[in-house]
Amino acid sequence: MAIYDTTLGMQANVLFSQTAIHQAYGGVVPELASRYHLEKIQGVFNDALAKAQVTLDDIDVIGITNRPGLPGALLIGVCFGKTIAWAKNKRIIGIDHLEGHAFSANIDNNIPFPFLCITASGGHTSLYLVHDFGVYETIGSTLDDAAGEAFDKIAKLVNLGYPGGPVVEKLAASQEFVDFFNYPRTHGQTLDFSFSGLKTAVLYDLVKRGAYDMASKTYLGNEDPDLKAKIASSLLVCIKDIFEQKLALALKKYPQARAISFVGGVSCNKYLRRALGEFSARRGVQFFVPAPQYCTDNAGMIAYVAHYKAQQGLFDDIDLDLVR
Ligand code: KG4
Ligand code: ZN
Repeated sequence: MAIYDTTLGMQANVLFSQTAIHQAYGGVVPELASRYHLEKIQGVFNDALAKAQVTLDDIDVIGITNRPGLPGALLIGVCFGKTIAWAKNKRIIGIDHLEGHAFSANIDNNIPFPFLCITASGGHTSLYLVHDFGVYETIGSTLDDAAGEAFDKIAKLVNLGYPGGPVVEKLAASQEFVDFFNYPRTHGQTLDFSFSGLKTAVLYDLVKRGAYDMASKTYLGNEDPDLKAKIASSLLVCIKDIFEQKLALALKKYPQARAISFVGGVSCNKYLRRALGEFSARRGVQFFVPAPQYCTDNAGMIAYVAHYKAQQGLFDDIDLDLVR
């Protein structure tokens, strides 16, 4: 839950992280996610008001994520927001979760339009050409797995736990980001991404090394204590190369782009931030990332989008619903 003041900026961005709850299951369990949304939403809402030192009467507009996502979790936010709006006569705006990510680097930065935005999260990997606040076109997206999903699935393959991204980053740093295994990069002139082949390539490479048993789906590489770190390092360098290749192509197709923003959970990654920052500098475009609190899923980015949509007069009716 977040509170954004049009004059003062972000006043509260409160998160109840469910990562520890889902960790035991190796990924998000939808039923648990909705149960904890229901249990925690009132407390998180109260905390946000307290942190911002405001009361409900000070709030003019309620922004509510209503797409895309797990319906059970979205429904709780939609019902909660609409109930307050109805009881207190507030205006509401349904927000697209991905638009939240796409403008998350704008919260603390003045990014020149038009800019290219690469969104990399657990559920989505997309490239946008952003023309203005709320005005953007999708110029590329993933055909299968998302980049974060590649980290998560490959980490699971070698028993690194969930979520995979942070642990892969840590292990890769221990190997100084050396590319040991040269996993396949995407080729061709498309701006779309495909990461499912990467997981298969890692799997077959492990089998070839005798480090994975397909029949029992077991990782067997424990004899080499560095193997997991070498996989992590090679994977991270590979994903960096794929991002750079897509961005180079996007800059060629859209030379009017004045900046690049890198957002979504994967943009927490310091190695990728540095590499894409250096890439942008070489290409003569500015580079922006969100503050860490706005990289992984957060309400701040949703409140920010609600604030500019309210200024644009783009309100919804009280019958706002989930969009599937
Ligand atoms: O944006 P997000 O919180 O949720 C979705 O909307 O999906 O992104 C979560 C994803 C996970 O796949 C996680 O592995 C990845 O972000 N992630 C990272 C890092 N921290 C989180 N990936 C790479 N490096 C990181 N440091
Ligand atoms: Zn997200």
